[in-house]
Amino acid sequence: MGRDYRLNYHLMPSKGWMNDPNGLCFYHGEYHIYYQACRNSAAGNGSAKGWGHFKTKDFLHYEDTGIANVPSEPFERDGAYSGSAVIKDDQMHFFYTGNVKEKGDYDYIHAGRQHNTIHAHSENGDRIEDKHVIFYNRDYPAFCTCHVRDPKIIEYKGHYEMVLGVRTQSDEGCAMLYESNDLMEWKYLYQIRSEHPMGYMWECPDIYEDQGQRYLLCCPQGLKKQGYDYENVYDNGYFRLEGDTAKDYRTLDHGFDFYAPQTMAKDGRTILIGWMGLPDTDYSNPTVSWQHALTLPRELHAEDGRILQNVIPEIAEKTVFLGTASQSVHPKQMRYLFGRTDVLDVSFNDIHITYADHLFTLDLSKCGQGRTQRHLVLNALECMECYVDESSIEIFLNDGRETMTSRYYDDFDVLTAVSNVSYQEYEVPAFHIQKEYEI
Ligand code: FRU
Repeated sequence: MGRDYRLNYHLMPSKGWMNDPNGLCFYHGEYHIYYQACRNSAAGNGSAKGWGHFKTKDFLHYEDTGIANVPSEPFERDGAYSGSAVIKDDQMHFFYTGNVKEKGDYDYIHAGRQHNTIHAHSENGDRIEDKHVIFYNRDYPAFCTCHVRDPKIIEYKGHYEMVLGVRTQSDEGCAMLYESNDLMEWKYLYQIRSEHPMGYMWECPDIYEDQGQRYLLCCPQGLKKQGYDYENVYDNGYFRLEGDTAKDYRTLDHGFDFYAPQTMAKDGRTILIGWMGLPDTDYSNPTVSWQHALTLPRELHAEDGRILQNVIPEIAEKTVFLGTASQSVHPKQMRYLFGRTDVLDVSFNDIHITYADHLFTLDLSKCGQGRTQRHLVLNALECMECYVDESSIEIFLNDGRETMTSRYYDDFDVLTAVSNVSYQEYEVPAFHIQKEYEI
C-alpha cells in the first residue's frame, strides 16, 4: 500500500474524484461548498458526476454530507455538471449544467451532446432536488455549439445575472449574459467577447466586482504557450469588463494545479475557492483511493485593474507562530513568510523555488510526478507567503498579486525548509472534518 498523501488543511474527497467547486453560498449560518464528485472512481470515470457537499460555520470545522446532487433525471443523465447557488427569499436555488451524451457517431461539439441549464432547489443544502430545465441547447443563440455550460448567478443592481461559458461555431471562447428579476424568467442580454480571440472555449465563467469595476473570470482552453505565459494545458484568468468587451487578460494562478475557481460574495467581501487540479495534464497524481482537492478559500481585492488573492483571515489568523529561521524541520502543515529579496533560493523538501533576474521559478522536477517548472516574470519580489500541506503548495507573491498553486509528492514524513534568506514560520491547524456517511 503506497502513501495516501491526504491533506491536513484542505478539502478533498474522502474517496473518489473531485473537480470544480460548485454552488458556493451562505445559508442559515453556514457556508456551503459543493464540488464535482465521482465517488466510485479516483480516476473520475466511474458513475456520472454529481455534487459532493461540505458545510462550515468557520472554515476550520466542516461537515462532509456526501453527495448532495445526484444526477437522477434524463436531462442530466451523464452528469450534474458545474454551477452555482443563490439565496432568494430564504430559499436555496441552484443553477447548473445537465450533461447528456447521445450514443452514436458524433463529434460531441456540434452534435451528440446536450448541455441543459437546470434550476433546482434544496431545503437545507444536503439534497438538491426539484429539478427542471430552463434552457435546452435549442434555446441558446445560433452562434453556440453544444458546449454551453457552468451557469454562475450574480446579484447585480437589484436583479440577477447568469453568465455561461460557450464554445462558438467559429471555435472561439466567449461568455453569455442573461438577466432575471425573479430567477424564473431569464432574458438573453449579450455575448461577452475578448478584443482578440482567446482560445476555443471559456469554462466556468464568473463575475467579480470591486469599486465599480467588473472582472470576468474564466478558464480559456486553447491558449498557445508564449514564453513564460500559458504554460499549462488550460489557463485560468480574468479580464476587465467594459460593457460586453473583455479586456486585458491576465492569468490568475500560475501553478500546475489550479482551475475552475468560483467566487461567493457575502457581507461586502468576495471569497474565491479553486479546484487544486487541472484536466488533461501530462503529469499525474499518485493518490490511489482519491484524487484532487480544493484550494484554501481566498479573499479577493482589486488594485489598479489587478485581482489580489489572500487566504481568508479565518484560516490565516489561526496559524501558530513558531519562530524565525533559515533552516527548519516541522510536520507537513506549514505557512512560511518571506520578506523582500533580490535573490531567493529556497527548498521545502524537494520543492525548489528561486527568484533571480526578475524570474520566479517553481521547480517540481524531483517531486512532481511529471511536473517540471512553472515561471513568472516579476519586477520585484516584495514578499512571499507559502502554505505547504502534505502534498500541496500554495504560493502568494507580493501580497497576493500573483499566486502559484501546485500538488507535489514526496515520501518524507516531515517538511524540511532550507533558505538563503530567513523566514517566519507558522503551523497551520488541521481542519476538523466530520463525515455523515460511511466511506
Ligand atoms: C471544468 C469542467 C466544467 C464542467 C465540469 C464537469 O473543469 O469541465 O466545464 O462543468 O468540469 O465536471
